[in-house]
Amino acid sequence: MYVLGINAYHGDVSAVLLRDGAVVAALEEERFTRIKHYAGFPTQAIRRCLEMAGIAGADVAHVAISRDPSANLPQKALFALKKRPSVRLVLDRLKNRRALREVEGPLADALGLDRTALPTVHNVEHHPAHLASAFFCSPFGEAAVAAIDGFGDFVSTSLAEGRGNRLEVLDRTYFPHSLGMLYTAVTQHLGFLHYGDEFKVMGLAPYGEPTRVDEVRQLVRLEQGGTFELDLDYFRHWSDGVEMEWDGGYPSLGRVYADKMTDLLGPARRPDEELTGAHEDLAHSLQVVYEEAAFHVLRGLHGRTGRRRLCLAGGCGMNSVANGKIRANTPFDEVYVQPAAGDNGTALGAALWVWHQALGHPRSFVMDHAYWGTEYPDADVEAILDDAVPGRADADWRYTATVYGSSEEAIEATADLLADGNVVGWFQGRMEWGSRALGNRSILADPSRADMRDLINLKIKFRERFRPFAPSVKREALHDYFVGAAEDPFMQQVYPVQPDKREGLPAITHIDGSGRLQTVAQDQNEAYYALISAFEKRTGTPVLLNTSFNENEPIVDTPEQAFACFHRTRMDAVVIGDTVVRREPIGGRPADSEEGESS
Ligand SMILES: [Fe+2]
Repeated sequence: MYVLGINAYHGDVSAVLLRDGAVVAALEEERFTRIKHYAGFPTQAIRRCLEMAGIAGADVAHVAISRDPSANLPQKALFALKKRPSVRLVLDRLKNRRALREVEGPLADALGLDRTALPTVHNVEHHPAHLASAFFCSPFGEAAVAAIDGFGDFVSTSLAEGRGNRLEVLDRTYFPHSLGMLYTAVTQHLGFLHYGDEFKVMGLAPYGEPTRVDEVRQLVRLEQGGTFELDLDYFRHWSDGVEMEWDGGYPSLGRVYADKMTDLLGPARRPDEELTGAHEDLAHSLQVVYEEAAFHVLRGLHGRTGRRRLCLAGGCGMNSVANGKIRANTPFDEVYVQPAAGDNGTALGAALWVWHQALGHPRSFVMDHAYWGTEYPDADVEAILDDAVPGRADADWRYTATVYGSSEEAIEATADLLADGNVVGWFQGRMEWGSRALGNRSILADPSRADMRDLINLKIKFRERFRPFAPSVKREALHDYFVGAAEDPFMQQVYPVQPDKREGLPAITHIDGSGRLQTVAQDQNEAYYALISAFEKRTGTPVLLNTSFNENEPIVDTPEQAFACFHRTRMDAVVIGDTVVRREPIGGRPADSEEGESS
């Protein structure tokens, strides 16, 4: 039986197809529309799911939508009575509900069906969908489960206990109190205004000192039993109709902090203003206060369940710095965070909720790798090269393509390139599910080279110099390189790099000595594991620098997009399947190459 889960008209819309409870395909619409965090309807993701399963829309028995406008109506009514929100807030919410009611048309279109022939459609409330995405595909038979985010269906935080194929929701924190909103408000105050910019602030935080913790603590009150409340005087998301918009598919959120926050924290930074030590200190202080609050919530959850295993989801579940500290700061000793812990993952959770909770089927599926996306095994890379660069040369560069007879040879050649200091685009197999590249759509480099971070940030990713890069480490070498780390194939936890390894790995060691690691196991990604092993043979280091294969755009989906990204940036080579395309400068290096080009 096929169950299709979708996240629609929210950030990061997506589709996931289950066959008898196991994931067949999991796709984010942004990869197809090429609009980051795309927030419309996941039409292309749905069609590709069907295509990959080789089925028609009529074969889908149930559709699960990760939103339920009729959920929590008493809380909504009470809020409206008590707080008297603006007319705009009410109108925005009505507009939102209308879009949801209109799901049937786009859904029928995506499935290629008449509206009257749609499968059974289930509305699964946003937070139960998050909880289900965390627990039902975890390796745990029983666990405590938490979802912590901005908001969805009027809820920001929910706590649950999972047993077998059942999830029991124990507690909810309702709008307008939200730890996600706390993080977003200070992120906006720091001049980062785009949807998803919270990650930048998390990356900035270690550059500063926690000098402003006392001020940031005033924004949120931690209360008995693991609950919390925002001091609403500092916020305006609840009073002034600040709703998420998605014009043209671009999600955006108006200003959520009130003027009083500026009185407390000083003037907000303009997006074009230089980042100073004061901004870094505020980012650090925010991260500290967020962690205090998150651990407080999780300790409360432990108190209610007595469980030692935790499944975590929600936008805040993507705070990998906090995630890496959960085991040290709470009684939980095992933590599972699936790769799409944000709203993208609610498509997965809605589908799993329907399969287990609504239809009563037993558990049978564990998500132990992230490779559930598209693949292009028949790509003719030479033809793509000839199309993009006629004559295989342009003004500055000459391109050569080598088609190897086996993946082993291509891996050996790639390891040579990496060991020689080249930056390599690595495009293999099925696309990753979730926002992290995990060795199938990655840009790779030697982590021991000191100049590599600036080189990649400034010449390939064209982004802020402070953004760190992540290490992929062979599973067997995890504890040689990281302190107190847990295995994590999804790159969801940050741990300290072993002190004696930091100097040798400057490109992946953040300023505070930490790294957001991915463990790579042979049975989870054979080609990537073989590549790291081949690199280790040459350098003695079982670690690669791994960043997503993109440049200010969603991660590349097709070989053509991979090649276009390679072509317009300063990568040295791209490997697509068993074909390696290298480029070399014609008549010496182009003018800007002195700034730190690797050897
Ligand atoms: Fe959410």
